[in-house]
Amino acid sequence: MKYARLMGTGGYVPERVLTNDELAEKIDTSDEWIQQRAGIRSRHIVADGQSTTDMAEQAARQAIAAAGIKPEHIDLIIGATSSPDMLFPSMACLLQKQLGISGCPAFDVQAACAGFIYALSVAEKFIQTGAAKTVLIACSESYSRIIDWQDRNTCVLFGDGAGAVVLSADNQPGLLSTVIHAAGEYSELLYTPNPLPGQQNHEPYAHLKMRGKEVFKIAVKWLGDIVHEVLVANNMEQDAVDWLIPHQANIRIIEATAKKLGLSMEHVVLTLHKHGNTSSASIPLALHEAIVDGRIKPGQLLLMEAFGGGFAWGAGLLRY
Ligand code: ACO
Repeated sequence: MKYARLMGTGGYVPERVLTNDELAEKIDTSDEWIQQRAGIRSRHIVADGQSTTDMAEQAARQAIAAAGIKPEHIDLIIGATSSPDMLFPSMACLLQKQLGISGCPAFDVQAACAGFIYALSVAEKFIQTGAAKTVLIACSESYSRIIDWQDRNTCVLFGDGAGAVVLSADNQPGLLSTVIHAAGEYSELLYTPNPLPGQQNHEPYAHLKMRGKEVFKIAVKWLGDIVHEVLVANNMEQDAVDWLIPHQANIRIIEATAKKLGLSMEHVVLTLHKHGNTSSASIPLALHEAIVDGRIKPGQLLLMEAFGGGFAWGAGLLRY
């Protein structure tokens, strides 16, 4: 059987940094509240005229270079975004054009904050079946464009950025396995309406809505369950895990998951404090950072997990 092996990573955050103190000048919040309740100090904000695909391209080019390949070697592009530039074409198709390649299949998965894990799961199947050999996954988000900057319950939590990976078919693992789930009955707890007229939930501005407390409780429970599910699927114990690379939504959710795994926070890759929640981009951004700074070493076992709107959630185990 072929495995999907991680060959390269890339990450990009826009230049503009927005601190909690700046937010507190505009809305009724404080640096103390945001740090205490969510673990965020600042986030990056996409520039006017800079697209979600532009950020994806920056991350993708780094991942391609790190993998030692050229864009034309890619035979599948999977995009993950819930803040795309267009309803269609997909970000993956727009990215393909910006990378100057053509012909390979390109599509997006839409699983909100779980987009990277969903994309990994799809890439794994393409590679295992021989349908693709070299897959680019690019996750990019401009949530600053879909949040209501007057809604203190949500606007303090999110940031913009992109992360990408290149996976190639190999005889050695690689990606050991992924598990993904969805529970659409919870769609009303976390969603962004379609702003086009005539839609069922039509609102003139497509702002993200979240019932945070309810999302929080379910996320803690199901993430705790799924990290065990992926370990059991691989006959592994939790002490085999070298690094937890969680979706970066809330420090308290991350701490609860690490505790369930019996992992100290020194074995958790955190970017939340400086990026906020960058949705699908948060895991590949964190993965990229910890590989580039040398924390993650060849042969180590990485457990990645995410939970988001849908609800959609999942986990993946990867031998680096
Ligand atoms: N500043 C100051 N006070 C605030 C702010 C703010 N920014 N936001 C809310 N408050 C107030 C509330 O109004 C409330 O006041 P009240 O007690 O007078 O009513 C109080 O703070 C407590 O609010 P809670 O909502 O109970 O705070 P909580 O501890 O639940 O934290 C948070 C809120 C951070 C949103 C948390 O619930 C959370 O992280 N939820 C999960 C988010 C998540 O994981 N989402 C999934 C991924 S996102 C995706 O898929 C797109």
